[in-house]
Amino acid sequence: MPYFFTWSAQRGTTGIELSGGEGVYFDTVDKGRFLDMGSLTYQAALGHGHARMIEAVRAQASRLCISTPNAVYPEKEALARELLAHAPAGFDKVFFTLGGSDANENALKMARLFTGRHKVVSRYRSYHGATLGAVSVGGDWRRPLVEPGLPGVVHVLDLDERSGRAGKTDIPRVLELEGRVGAVMLEPVVGHNGVLIPEPDYYARVREACDAHGALLIADEVLVGFGRTGRFFGLEHWKDASGERLVPDMITCGKAITAGYGTLGAVLVHERVSAHFEDHVLAAGLTHYAHPLGVAAALEALRIYDEEKLPERAASMAPQLASALELIVDAQPRVTSYRAIGLFGGVDLELDRPGFTRLAEALERRRVYAHLNAGNGTLIVSPPLIISEDELADGMNRVAEAIDEVCG
Ligand SMILES: Cc1ncc(COP(=O)(O)O)c(C=O)c1O
Repeated sequence: MPYFFTWSAQRGTTGIELSGGEGVYFDTVDKGRFLDMGSLTYQAALGHGHARMIEAVRAQASRLCISTPNAVYPEKEALARELLAHAPAGFDKVFFTLGGSDANENALKMARLFTGRHKVVSRYRSYHGATLGAVSVGGDWRRPLVEPGLPGVVHVLDLDERSGRAGKTDIPRVLELEGRVGAVMLEPVVGHNGVLIPEPDYYARVREACDAHGALLIADEVLVGFGRTGRFFGLEHWKDASGERLVPDMITCGKAITAGYGTLGAVLVHERVSAHFEDHVLAAGLTHYAHPLGVAAALEALRIYDEEKLPERAASMAPQLASALELIVDAQPRVTSYRAIGLFGGVDLELDRPGFTRLAEALERRRVYAHLNAGNGTLIVSPPLIISEDELADGMNRVAEAIDEVCG
């Protein structure tokens, strides 16, 4: 192939030849129709071939297709207002990006500019993007390969299931010991690194520690935002110490912000941070800042999430997904545990790497797409939020059969 495949040695790597799709199914040229239990890398929350999404992008392309970073046009303002309307009170500015990695990059830059500090605390069980800054804040296998990365990044073992630290946080102590930490960047629910769901008081303790030590709290909602967990933003499941909605300082978005129908990311910024940039230069920008096609896709996706109450729908379907995962754990001794929230769930498997390769083949034979993370030993499902009960049952049956075949 004249182009690279991502995250792989190129020799022997092949891709899937996509040709389109409809609803929760995507089509491939060589292997036919797949049931998409992963929303194609956690983005296709509205499924495939969505007529309204396609029309929104088409109409935008003929109205205004090329922009420039500081251009003003109505859809850009409308989208910023819509995004802020879903954030906690006090959020008043949006910085647009092209995707999740650069949303995190720019949140980190703003934190440096605002606090004058460069240190960042994050978890080992995390992924925050592929660009050099974002990858060095992430904690999974993708970081050590390209180090040295950003100086001053400190990782904690919080939520490391395998060392039994699911409910604990070292962040208050680390902030105290490190001193002058500028930002704590966390996925509200850990995404591709294993669907790890913190205890109810976890973020209240993190928020308090950030306040006590002058660090900003950045919620990376790139994977779990836009309804995935049964709330619009994942962090909405947690309260602060006084029982109110937990308020981070910045929220980063990507993936389902456009439901996959365009490339866009965003940093939502609380007024206590954004006010700083009234009189200080915001040293950040991108040629494709708020590209009209991405903006149009995001605006339409947000309308559909709201109109069809898709976060609520994900919450109402959560019990069905959780019981399907529980059945797999009950039936298979080599599936040791499951976790689920909204339409997002995962199981831990006692499989080695060749076992995961066999599992990938077994899933493919059943024409079902799910995410495998052999490094952490997890299989993750995150179907489009429009999935019906029958389709979810069908998808989970196919996943269970594939696991039976490989683990049985
Ligand atoms: C939590 C999280 N943050 C950031 C990113 C990076 O987003 P992108 O691949 O759009 O740059 C991802 C992508 O998987 C992610 O899961």
